[in-house]
Amino acid sequence: MAGTQDAATELLFYVNGRKVIEKNADPETMLLPYLRKKLRFTGTKYGCGGGGCGACTVMISRYNPITKSIRHYPANACLVPICSLYGAAVTTVEGIGSTSTRIHPVQERIAKCHGTQCGFCTPGMVMSMYTLLRNHPEPSLDQLTDALSGNLCRCTGYRPIIDACKSFCKTTDCCQSKENGVCCLDEEINELPGFEEGSKTCPKLFSEEAFLPLDPTQELIFPPELMIIAEKQPQRTRVFGGERMTWISPATLKELLEAKVNYPQAPIVMGNTSVGPEVKFKGIFHPVILFPGSIAELSVVKHADNGLTVGAGLSLAQVKEILSDVVQKLPEEKTQTFRALLKHLGTLAGSQIRNMATLGGHIMSRHLDSDLNPLLAVGNCTLNLLSKDGERQIPLNEQFLRKCSEADLKPKEILISVNIPYSRKWEFVSAFRQAQRRQNALAIVNSGMRVFFGGGDGIIRELSISYGGVGPTTICAKNACQKLIGRPWNEEMLDAACRLILDEVSLPGSAPGGKVEFKRTLIISFLFKFYLEVSQILKRLDPVHYPSLADKYESALEDLHSKHHWSISKYQNVDPRQLPQDPVGHPIMHLSGIKHATGEAIYCDDMPAVDQELFLTFVTSSRAHAKILSIDLSEALSLPGVVDIVTAEHLQGVNSFCLSTEPEMLLATDEVFCVGQLVCAVVADSEVQAKRAAKQVNIVYEDLEPVILTIEEAIQHNSFFEPERKLEYGNVDEAFKVVDQILKGEIHMGGQEHFYMETQSMLVVPKGEDQEIDVYVSTQFPKYIQDIVASTLKVPSNKVMCHVRRVGGAFGGKVTKTGIMAAITAFAANKQGRAVRCILERGEDMLITAGRHPYLGKYKVGFMNDGRILALDMVHYSNGGAFLDESLFVIEMGILKMDNAYKFPNLRCRGLACRTNLPSNTALRGFGFPQAGLITESCITEVAAKCGLSPEKVRMINMYKEIDQTPYKQEIDAKNLIQCWRECMAMSSYPLRKAAVEKFNAENYWKKKGLAMVPLKFPVGLCSRAAGQAAALVHIYLDGSVLVTHGGIEMGQGVHTKMIQVASRELRMPMSNVHLRGTSTETIPNANISGGSVVADLNGLAVKDACQTLLKRLEPIIIKNPQGTWKDWAQAAFDESISLSAIGYFRGYESNMDWEEGKGHPFEYFVYGAACSEVEIDCLTGDHKNVRTDIIMDVGCSINPALDIGQIEGAFIQGMGLYTIEELNYSPKGVLYTRGPNQYKIPAICDIPTELHVSLLPPSQNSNTLYSSKGLGESGLFLGCSVFFAIRDALSAARQERGVSGQLKLSSPLTPERIRMACEDKFTKMIPRDAPGSYVPWNIPV
Ligand SMILES: Cc1cc2nc3c(=O)[nH]c(=O)nc-3n(C[C@H](O)[C@H](O)[C@H](O)COP(=O)(O)OP(=O)(O)OC[C@H]3O[C@@H](n4cnc5c(N)ncnc54)[C@H](O)[C@@H]3O)c2cc1C
Ligand code: FES
Ligand code: FES
Repeated sequence: MAGTQDAATELLFYVNGRKVIEKNADPETMLLPYLRKKLRFTGTKYGCGGGGCGACTVMISRYNPITKSIRHYPANACLVPICSLYGAAVTTVEGIGSTSTRIHPVQERIAKCHGTQCGFCTPGMVMSMYTLLRNHPEPSLDQLTDALSGNLCRCTGYRPIIDACKSFCKTTDCCQSKENGVCCLDEEINELPGFEEGSKTCPKLFSEEAFLPLDPTQELIFPPELMIIAEKQPQRTRVFGGERMTWISPATLKELLEAKVNYPQAPIVMGNTSVGPEVKFKGIFHPVILFPGSIAELSVVKHADNGLTVGAGLSLAQVKEILSDVVQKLPEEKTQTFRALLKHLGTLAGSQIRNMATLGGHIMSRHLDSDLNPLLAVGNCTLNLLSKDGERQIPLNEQFLRKCSEADLKPKEILISVNIPYSRKWEFVSAFRQAQRRQNALAIVNSGMRVFFGGGDGIIRELSISYGGVGPTTICAKNACQKLIGRPWNEEMLDAACRLILDEVSLPGSAPGGKVEFKRTLIISFLFKFYLEVSQILKRLDPVHYPSLADKYESALEDLHSKHHWSISKYQNVDPRQLPQDPVGHPIMHLSGIKHATGEAIYCDDMPAVDQELFLTFVTSSRAHAKILSIDLSEALSLPGVVDIVTAEHLQGVNSFCLSTEPEMLLATDEVFCVGQLVCAVVADSEVQAKRAAKQVNIVYEDLEPVILTIEEAIQHNSFFEPERKLEYGNVDEAFKVVDQILKGEIHMGGQEHFYMETQSMLVVPKGEDQEIDVYVSTQFPKYIQDIVASTLKVPSNKVMCHVRRVGGAFGGKVTKTGIMAAITAFAANKQGRAVRCILERGEDMLITAGRHPYLGKYKVGFMNDGRILALDMVHYSNGGAFLDESLFVIEMGILKMDNAYKFPNLRCRGLACRTNLPSNTALRGFGFPQAGLITESCITEVAAKCGLSPEKVRMINMYKEIDQTPYKQEIDAKNLIQCWRECMAMSSYPLRKAAVEKFNAENYWKKKGLAMVPLKFPVGLCSRAAGQAAALVHIYLDGSVLVTHGGIEMGQGVHTKMIQVASRELRMPMSNVHLRGTSTETIPNANISGGSVVADLNGLAVKDACQTLLKRLEPIIIKNPQGTWKDWAQAAFDESISLSAIGYFRGYESNMDWEEGKGHPFEYFVYGAACSEVEIDCLTGDHKNVRTDIIMDVGCSINPALDIGQIEGAFIQGMGLYTIEELNYSPKGVLYTRGPNQYKIPAICDIPTELHVSLLPPSQNSNTLYSSKGLGESGLFLGCSVFFAIRDALSAARQERGVSGQLKLSSPLTPERIRMACEDKFTKMIPRDAPGSYVPWNIPV
């Protein structure tokens, strides 16, 4: 390029106040790996690599020499090319505070409010919040939720994070809800009833008084050098040449235009939020990139007579600010398009993306689901283009959006700005969108609509309607709109418009993205909303000529509840007789909380590189069932940096390992059984090289039959894992003969992805001596990793040591597949004699590791007209995938727990795990119970509908009520279950609110509310004593400090914190005196898996045992010197040759299960609870909002109410995701489409209940467990189904009003698609339907 010869090639920016000069900046390098690997700032985390999770959030600050102002904004480091950072200051979590200097108030409060569990999302949360506070030291609640909209957390359920952030807001503690004149501070509805008389409850889990104040003067200043450079130094073009790519940052507009002549194909990268993901996920390569970051002309804002001109280089967040400002100043009639744009800018992506992405980049990307382009198109916007040849304007119309060459930019042109015209009197513009999740989710369908009447006569003069999500780009319904011109705005016009538009904007049955009928329905539902909206305004402007909307229909126009969050957590104070220093029962902060928040907590991939370390990546099968004809490795092996490729051939004799009854294969041999099966592993010097080589491995397949993907196909092919399980109680067949009614039904439930924030990670280090090997791995089961690695390396287990400091979330997903991958990684490390690291990308992780089993439940139920269920015959089918994994155990647990809280006097339940050609599903929090419980609750709801009773009534009628027997003949005392149910009824004011819901439903046609209450009896135990044994090792050092080690894994649940509380109580010493370093097979051998809610139970008993042993030994010494310190006692013990180390042991609870006899004592105790949820649904779009949830749980005597409430809330939100928005999509060929947060939606901050009340039942004693506590890891998840049934309740109301009869068959999750399509109405009747079998659908339910 002309002028680039003398260009500057040095990159200069600041990170955390330190200057970084990069002489060889590679344009392909993103900020995230640069921070983590090069600068060793590992606080910033990798969660997805595509801008969708927020784990990598940093603050970027730039100085503008023209306005003389500094802009601080949050950014996703995974999408920021380092070359774009010239002159910028980057602040990471390490830059704002640390334990060695001073922690920042944001870091302190998020930790002290218990806003961290696994801590992996925490640095990102901290940085989003910190950036907000830099710009607004006293933010509003809206700004707060907006700032966190791009940050996902899988553990906490967000409530404590909001609490922490709210402490900076300038508000009262009020919920700000005044619906029906009632708010949280009004006692009648929200005041929680007191517990038993005399009990003391303590609603505060943290004390705000102790918080450090926020002092903006203490913040890191913007580097003066960067200001000087920006002000004084002449701008120079900068060119950074990488191995494959050249980055050009022209200094002036003129140079940019010249560069565009020289490199017409080069993209103009602005925010990189469109180009970046395409490069990363679609493999698109650009040899040259143009980056006009510093060109002021791209940031113009001009007000003119014809509208507002906005620079193409302004970020979407800046555009939002500008438009907000304009709508405040100008009359409403002029700002219709601006208002519509603002509506979408409020939900488009998260805050980080909105701050990075630019208007120009957004328009030019022309994404099919662009939120802004449909609006800009209907708003008659024009694009101002510039090239060396001069200026030109083109309309942003359909031809432009379709990239028709005559309507598009010429290769030499750039988009300089956009003109958005003012609207006119009698002109109305609206925006609509529906996505799987309200915020930070691409729209399923969106739309921009504009009508111009010309005058008050209501005759359409201009009409313009565009849709996104329904074609390859934004689609304009031009012909339909043309035909409607001249028609009056009335119902006949609407009817004609719906038909014309459905005709023009047609979608084939096999359209990509699926949800075809839903999309068709949305197309006209949005139109109806627009019709109503405009009618309402016309009525307002001219009440004489326009009819009023019936009150009932106005509900179509209101947005769903978006009030501010409000929560109450209630637990019981400790017994006043408890020693003041005893921490048991207190809401102690997570031991690593502060370190999570400062980024100092070290996860597997944060460990520094070992000398000569290699990286391993997997090549996986692209076929669901096929023979491998050949694998050609030659091309991959010839690439630079590639060291080895491990195939099944290398693993001969060790290529399988047996965890349960069937051996699991490590690498595929000559046949593959699912897409995503591991075929070989490429080992290279770097991650980039390994990934590039993996793409060059050439595998030739021959497809095999059958390909079984769905449960129905497995049933047809009789494809099951053995054995089938069955549980029978009473006499089912006889009972069916005496019942009043018999009903048959079925429910299908989709699977769930673990979505732990830290992907599968491992680092294997051969020690170079005696065949020893160290495995650092993110796992729940170090012993299993040790075993499988030892077996693969053919060495005894005593040579393999597995170490786990902490895990960034696991939820059951870091056991079997982790073991297989660790074995292969260890094999490679051993073979090369070099350390090997393997970190899965999010997409690989989701594909390879699978998750919760999809279920099909079929039932036949016999009941009396009063709701009593006398006979139940049920079959559970799970989709197990290609290999056994834990499928059988999951089926067994499902059967044993299917009764939930109900006494079915005559019951038969069979369970079969289907063998299919999908990646094998595995353990996930709840382990079969969430599926089995949902089937049972669905059956009960159906029975209630048949009897004309409320589901809650039928639930109560059939509930266990006293001392009774489960179907496997274990005794149960249901006292606490009933108490939970009653407390929940009272706490939620159920009868009052049920009546309010009914009133609301009678008054609103297009919005409905629903209320549902669900009980919980969650059995805790592992069905085997051996599986429940645990050990601990406690050392006292001569300075009196104590080191505790136990077999449990810290994965966010706070087990280490609880263990220190135990040691502190037992040894009667402050917690600060006790330390815990992590878990290792070296210190605690043969430890059981950490899972099944019992980690703290079992290990706590072992820690207690060890401490008691020590205390017993030391008692004589302490008695001799009662005023002494631990240092004195330890020294005295040493002098007397008394051992200061003790092993603690717990044998496990007595438990057994005899499947032949159908009886046993598989569980130690039951966790009881209940939840009541209220939702509101939008019958036209399928959207829903959880208005309020009340949860009550019987946790026994809580060891740590903050951690326990955290588990309940986190699990509840995860369950809510499972039953409502988390949807995995598979192609008809068995390929998983949903491979990251952009396709798979876990709950975000916008999804949590507006009001959340969590209460713990007053403590009850249970002598067998640790201090009478109960394990809570899993149980709360099931309570998420109260939201499912509340939606069902709302749907029933809608259908009843519309006269829709017949059984309401609903599958889980209840997505917007399912909600909308269940609300049958004139629009669902109007859409074309494709005959099944007449097309190949995009996805299939598995
Ligand atoms: C996690 C995530 C969530 C998202 N969610 C949403 C959402 O909810 N709704 C939605 O609508 N969108 C969403 N998006 C898409 C987002 O809006 C676009 O990626 C973004 O607007 C593109 O802007 P950019 O500046 O980053 O473009 P870049 O990636 O920098 O560039 C994109 C394209 O525009 C061209 N270009 C840029 N500027 C010019 C110019 N001045 N002249 C000529 N060509 C130019 C480039 O050549 C390139 O081809 C999301 C994206 C991500 C990553
Ligand atoms: S890692 Fe960057 S957003 Fe997920
Ligand atoms: S604490 Fe948020 S992901 Fe674990």
